[in-house]
Amino acid sequence: VGHIDDVQELRKAKPTTIPERFVRDLTERPTMATALSSATDIPNINFSKLIKGNPDEFHSEILNLTTACEQWGFFQVINHEIDLSLLESIEKVAKDFFMLPLEEKQKYPMAPGTVQGYGQAFVFSENQKLDWCNMFALGVEPHCIRNPKLWPAEPAEFSQTLENYSSRVRKLCENLLKYIAMSLGLKGDVFEKMFGVAVQAVRMNYYPPCSRPDLVLGLSPHSDGSALTVLQQGRGSSVGLQILKNNTWVPVQPIANALVVNIGDTMEVLTNGRYKSVEHRAVTHREKDRLSIATFYAPDYETELGPMPELLDENNPCKYRRYNHGEYSKHYVTNKLQGKKTLDFAK
Ligand code: SIN
Ligand code: FE2
Repeated sequence: VGHIDDVQELRKAKPTTIPERFVRDLTERPTMATALSSATDIPNINFSKLIKGNPDEFHSEILNLTTACEQWGFFQVINHEIDLSLLESIEKVAKDFFMLPLEEKQKYPMAPGTVQGYGQAFVFSENQKLDWCNMFALGVEPHCIRNPKLWPAEPAEFSQTLENYSSRVRKLCENLLKYIAMSLGLKGDVFEKMFGVAVQAVRMNYYPPCSRPDLVLGLSPHSDGSALTVLQQGRGSSVGLQILKNNTWVPVQPIANALVVNIGDTMEVLTNGRYKSVEHRAVTHREKDRLSIATFYAPDYETELGPMPELLDENNPCKYRRYNHGEYSKHYVTNKLQGKKTLDFAK
């Protein structure tokens, strides 16, 4: 992706028409009808009831979690115990990074076929449509996946803030996986034991305003390759995330200070499809920009995965094959985002 395809630069240049590479085929465009068609919100999970509720509160919240995972694959976590100041500071360093001059950001380029650095991931051909989005992605844990050359010098507080934020989000993921295990009737530590030193990566997405939000997508429809994803939506950002439910794109209305959590492909496979990774996309806004910060949490690359035997019986025959998670990750990052297509790897 060259200078000409950097959407922040494009926005500054104010072309009279949207360049062809961003204009979606008719069937992919975010029509107005979809944005208006649903009033249903994704479920909320009250984390404080899980971590310190009385037994009644705990059990009812575990039930809510089961329903959220089975019927939505997406929920918003409230009272997650991550300091508000930390949510604000990660947002600030992310925004400050995106606001740097292009030359500065290009010191941390996303090499083709990789997903770390600044640029657009998942672009593999000249005729593939581009998303109206700039991305900055970094591997965080374990340390061996870090590329220190890509951790930016500016803004000065970036690295330390990301470090602090990531360790808090990691704790949240560990806890959520424990409760998700319980919601499946499994022992709380099954995922922890299976995952080894879990892989954690962050991707910051910046969507400038777009004069023709009806023609473009901020982010192409996809499911996540992770076990769990934690998404922070920027304060003051436009509403942009949409999930596919019953064949309809449903917008996710941000709740102040909540974190959006979704089930990734890995969890779908482990649960043999009982908890599904749900397809989602991002749309843009005519006047407002939008920032989102996604944390992907997944097993160690060495992990051999497949449906958990505890969840299989004559009514639930095994639907996915066993595979190595590192190979799945590689498959995921070397294919374009296209609905749930990447999961074909596991079939
Ligand atoms: C994502 O799916 O990675 C991010 C979507 C969003 O910006 O809300
Ligand atoms: Fe996603």
